[in-house]
Order: sequence, then structure tokens, then C-alpha cells
Amino acid sequence: MSETPEDGAIEPGISVHWREEARIDPPPAFVRQATAHDRKLFETLSSAHFPEGFRRHAALLQWDHPFEAVLDQTNPPFYRWFPGGRLNATVNTLDRHLREARDRVAYYFVPEDESEDITPLTYGELAERVNQLAGILRDRFGCKAGDRITIHLPMVPELPIAMLACARLGIIHTVVFSGFSGKALGNRIVDSESRLLITMDGYYRNGQWLDHKVKADEAYLAAASEGVRLEAVLVFERHPGHYRSASALRDGQDVLMTPHLLDQSRSRIDAVPFESNEGLFIMYSSGTTGRPKGCLHGIGGYLSWVTATSRDVLDLKPGDVYWCMADIGWITGHSYIVYGPLSIGATSVLYEGVPNFPDAGRPWRIAEKLGVEILHTSPTAIRALRREGPDAPHRYHPPFRLLATVGEPIEPETWRWYHDEVGHGKAVVVDTYWQTETGGHLLSILPGLDPMKPGSAGPALPGIEAAIYDTEGRRLAPGSGRAGILAIERPWPGLMLGIWKDPARFRSTYFEPLKRGAQQDRWLYCTHDAAMQSADGYFRILGRTDDVINVAGHRLGSKEIESAALTVPGIAEAAVIPYPDPVKGHVPLLFVATRPGTSASKGISRSVEAAVTESIGPIARPKAVLIVSDLPKTRSGKIMRRLLRALAENQDPGDLTTLANPESVDAIRGILRQMS
Ligand code: WT7
Repeated sequence: MSETPEDGAIEPGISVHWREEARIDPPPAFVRQATAHDRKLFETLSSAHFPEGFRRHAALLQWDHPFEAVLDQTNPPFYRWFPGGRLNATVNTLDRHLREARDRVAYYFVPEDESEDITPLTYGELAERVNQLAGILRDRFGCKAGDRITIHLPMVPELPIAMLACARLGIIHTVVFSGFSGKALGNRIVDSESRLLITMDGYYRNGQWLDHKVKADEAYLAAASEGVRLEAVLVFERHPGHYRSASALRDGQDVLMTPHLLDQSRSRIDAVPFESNEGLFIMYSSGTTGRPKGCLHGIGGYLSWVTATSRDVLDLKPGDVYWCMADIGWITGHSYIVYGPLSIGATSVLYEGVPNFPDAGRPWRIAEKLGVEILHTSPTAIRALRREGPDAPHRYHPPFRLLATVGEPIEPETWRWYHDEVGHGKAVVVDTYWQTETGGHLLSILPGLDPMKPGSAGPALPGIEAAIYDTEGRRLAPGSGRAGILAIERPWPGLMLGIWKDPARFRSTYFEPLKRGAQQDRWLYCTHDAAMQSADGYFRILGRTDDVINVAGHRLGSKEIESAALTVPGIAEAAVIPYPDPVKGHVPLLFVATRPGTSASKGISRSVEAAVTESIGPIARPKAVLIVSDLPKTRSGKIMRRLLRALAENQDPGDLTTLANPESVDAIRGILRQMS
């Protein structure tokens, strides 16, 4: 079954006009010291040397047993990188640094409360704590390779520790963003059939203590009601020795990870090597249908890709002080706070809170104090910091040499503030484009080699063959001035192994949409993003073509939001669209139609809003819930989300004569006018 793009979003094939920005050379001081400084890299990884060129990636890792081939492509699109090779992810992220760099800081934990001390955690200490927890998972709970454990932790050292403890034993971890609700957490526990849940009593965010354990209780019950009974919930304490949640510990469910219990485990776990294509983790992501998909990443290919891109794109070197402000609960944090930087041997900042707490100068203070040279964040965070503290970067002097961004398009104006004010014009800016599914970067400049171009994600990285296709499967040449679907033409090591328990969905979602016309026999990876390529090969991302809404750089599925709305009694239909927001890029705007007998009221809107935040989390909170008598539909009964979007953005809605209910349009216009 192939999933056709919804009627929600950007149409590929349309001509798009935008002012081509001038290219800017990276500062010579940066270029002189950049690791990736040789164009030969493109030759090594060119199609002429595919797949052998990727030996370079494997060589960045420590293997316990050599691989038999670089790539097994006998069963496309299920590619297997470095088959037969055996390695352990924690040997690569921890053990291999211990001889020379045991005392190097792996993480500076920065609590949100500025009066709480910053705690450094060295590679040696991190390795010890990983072994300790791995010992508990193995000896007390009998967990073994291939089992799944769900982790629901905020931005605290216990989060990477828990992930790595799993990785050491070959347990597949599935981290759920701490902001997700108990219900959303429960769904993921069910889908992954996790044996344990690892959580914490609470944490600080935006100056407030948030009770977190309560979500574990909800998730435990939700999962049990669907037949997945967790064997235990491991509860860490934000302040060790002081349990602070209002949710009482439950016998037979919770195990408090007290300092005493942890100290009893003095294990040194021998790192067993696993086959390169065993699972390392599952990361759930929203897609074209209601249920979030479990993106399963493997060990060897994934780790080689995040290590190589941390080095070539982020220019991370051993011992560099680096800060990625993303949350580890998303793929950015997995790849570029945990696996990539640790594999390189860098020193990372792990910050608990929101960037603008207590004021918009906080990130620059932290960066100055810890000597951060490389900063990685999202356009949303940059917009918010700029809005609240346009001059704040001038009060501090962090030694930035590279500034990275990820997650959504960055408009040239925001880019310039990042470059001129945050970087004082002395740091190179890299805009990295990729997805949960792709493991690591796909498009970006190599900052030691390529010029920057504000608003463009840059060219494809060495080893990535990216191109734009129209819906008939025709390749659009660079500089065509037309938008199309961004496709990757050959596999690369970071590509996920598949969707957890659903190989057919992996094939149909990513590899069937572009099996059109001349591409019938090829296996083009479909990103579901519309993009354009200018004559110099740089890509500009326009947005998703499926019904995914990108809120502050995070993917939300329209179907998930709509089905949450439909759980409210009296709601007959729901349609959600992305609505432009000056900080977050987009926020969900929800239209609902009520059943006969249910009248439009503030109460109904509020219930719908509550249902959405409860089922997904506050990140999905709609800008507004607009009650309409009728949603515009095609004659075949499909809700016209694209039309709603045009109306909301005050754009020409186009031909309305094909609608089954054209009269709905005026009513919606009226309601939208009241909203603004
Ligand atoms: C979607 C993937 C990649 C880690 C964070 C998000 C959008 C991502 C960029 C960028 C324009 C971008 C795309 C993509 N996106 N990076 N540099 N410029 N758009 O991971 O949650 O899997 O979302 O984010 O639409 O498909 P994700």
C-alpha cells in the first residue's frame, strides 16, 4: 500500500521565487583549523567508489571483529552496513577514551537553577555509572540483549547514563521526550513492548518544579490496560536521597534508585560486542498516519555516521567544549549530545532547563563560563533569544568558532543575527538538514570547505546523493527554479534499519512514493520534504509535503492531534493545520465541527485543547480551537486542509467549485477574522 501525500501541504512542482542570498566565506581562522579540509573527501565518497568509500566511516570506530563487507544490499530497501562486524557502542563512546582521557569532562551538568552548582562528570565517572546501572539492569532485572527499555527522563546525567547502560548490554532503548504526556508514553511502552521504564521524581523547567513521576503512573496503567505490564519502574531522584514527587512510590511497581542501591552495584560489565546491524535504539516519530512510528537504528552504521558528521560538519575534536541545546529526548540529542560527541571524545554541556531562563542572556553566560566553542541549537530558540535579548550576546564573550542549527528552515534575517551578534561575525554558521529516520546530517556545508548561504541548508554531504524529483518521478536539474520532493538516491550508513515491527510500512512510507515513471525500479529514499536546489547545488527546504506539522523544530502528526480532538464528546470532525508563528515557525491551529445538539462554546474549545495536551503533551497545544459548523470537503468527502491553510494565511484559496460545500468557506473566513 502506498501512502499518497495528504492534501495538507506544499505542492511539489510549483515554481518558487526567492531572492538568492549571497554566499559568505567562513572565517579564515576557522578554515585553518578545520578537520575536514580536503575536497578529496567528495571523491572518496563519490558514486564511483560506492559503497567502498564508506570504509572511511567504519575506520572511525573500534571494531572487535572485522566486517565481511561494507554493505549488504541484497534485500533493498533493507540495507545492512558493515555486516558481520561486531562492536559495542559503549566501547566506542566510553572505554576507548579511558586510557588517555579518563579525567576529561564528558558532561558538564548545568541545572536550570543558577544557584545550583554545575557538576562535571568525567569520562571515567560516566563509565563507572554506566557500568553500575548496567549491572542493576542485568543482575537485578535479568535484562538482556534485544530487550527493550523505555526511558522518560529530563535533561539530567541519568539520561545518557541510562541509554549507555542499555547499549552496553545490547538492550534497545527507547527514549520518550520528557515533555510527552503519560498517555503518549504509555503508547510507546506498548508498541516497543518494554520490560522496564526508567524515570525521575521531577525536574526544573522555567523556574518551576515539575512532578514527573505522575506521568510514569499514568503510563504504567495505560500500558497495562493494553496488555503490556512493566516489570518495574526505576525512579531516579533529581536530588539523590530526597524523593520529591507527590506520587507515592508503589509496591510491586516502583524501585527507587537511591544512592545506597546504586552503590551496591559495583559491577564492571564486560562489553560484549554485537553485530553491526543489531538494534541500538528506537526513536518514535510522527508520520503520515496516526500511530507514531518506531524508527529503529542499528549500531555500526549509525555510530559511524554520527561520528563522521560530528567531526566533518560540527568540527568536533577530542576535548572541545560543545553545547547542543536540543533535548536528548529527540533524535538531535541522541546523535549530537550522546553518541556523536562521546564517540569523538568531546566535552558536552548538558543543560536541564529552557534557554531563556531566567533571562535571554543565560546561554551566553553558560557558554562564556564553560568556554563553549561549538554551539548547536534550533531556529526557534534563536528567534526566542533574539526577541527577548537582542543585545544580550554582546555582554558576554564565549569563544564560539562554530554555530549550528537544525530542525526547521532558518530565515536569512534570523541567520544573520546568529552569525553577526551571537558569533560576532567570527564563527561559521552551519544549517544542518536531516530527520529522525536518517540518523544524522544529510545536507550541510562542510564548514572548512564550503561557503555559507543564509537560508539554505547547503549541499549534500559527501556520500549523500540528494536530488529533487517531481511527482511523476522526473529529476529536476539544479537551478530549475521548481520545487519538488527531496530524495536521497543511494543508501548511507545513518539510515535507520526499519520501522519497529513493521517492515512493510518502512518500504511504503519511504521507498514507494518515488517509484514513479522512470524511477520504477529504483529505491529512492523519500524525505517527504519539498525543496529546491539552486544552480550551485545548495538546497532550500520548503517544508513537509505530508501531514506533519513542524512546531519549534519538532514533528507532530496531524492525525494524532485530530484523533485526540475527536475523543471529546460532541466533536464530529477535526482538521488541524500549521499556522505561522513568529517564534516557533508554526503552531497547530485546530478546526472542529460539533455534532448536532452540541453547541459551540468556550467550554468545548477548552475540552478539545485539554484533550490534545493530555494525549500528546503541551508541545501540541493549539493556537486556537475554532468551532465551525462544517469543514470544507471535496465531493469524495476529504477534508480540504490545504484550503483551510490558505484561508488562515489570507491567501487565494483557488478554485472552490469542486467543493461539496462551498458555503462553508465564508463562515470559516468570519471565524478566522475573529481570531486575529
Ligand atoms: C524534519 C525532520 C533533524 C533533527 C531534528 C528534527 C525539518 C530538519 C531542517 C533544516 C529545514 C529542517 C524537515 C524534516 N528540518 N532540519 N535544517 N531546514 N527543515 O527531526 O523531528 O525527524 O524532523 O524537520 O521538515 O523532514 P525530525
